[in-house]
Amino acid sequence: MYEVIKKQLPALFDNIDNFITNASGFLAVIYHSLPDINWIGFYLANGSDLIAGPYQGKVACVKIPIGKGVCGACAGLKEIITVDDVGEFRGHIACDPMSKSEIVLPVIVNGTLLGVLDIDSPVRTRFNEYDKQNLAGLLDILINSSDMDKFKQYLESK
Ligand code: SME
Repeated sequence: MYEVIKKQLPALFDNIDNFITNASGFLAVIYHSLPDINWIGFYLANGSDLIAGPYQGKVACVKIPIGKGVCGACAGLKEIITVDDVGEFRGHIACDPMSKSEIVLPVIVNGTLLGVLDIDSPVRTRFNEYDKQNLAGLLDILINSSDMDKFKQYLESK
């Protein structure tokens, strides 16, 4: 499935370098391709908080302080975090009680955190090392296909 998505992405981006445009298509493709996913989206860096960016799934919380929840922990550490059972993660922010496991990947450009990619599953232990590597690869394609300097300027102008 990851290989199929990887091939779809360049056509989807259609030489557009706007991160939000590309991210929206990226999320729609993954949400509708990967099994056992109930939410996927970006939270964007906004001072000491993360705020909701484009996403697929049920309405989610809008603001997460950096350091809070799984997304905030990922943003603080600038590392990928996989949680097999969100019930076991202290401070997990339950936007949808259906979510049982999740993976959060930082979006870092030239050392600056621009946001995180959060993916939730209704199945415990949904994300293994293989998913982690492939999702990181897909995120790299999105970043390399978009003008991240322009997007960083946009975030900093807010
Ligand atoms: N699970 C996240 C909150 C965001 S929702 O899952 C969409 C967290 O604890 O950071």
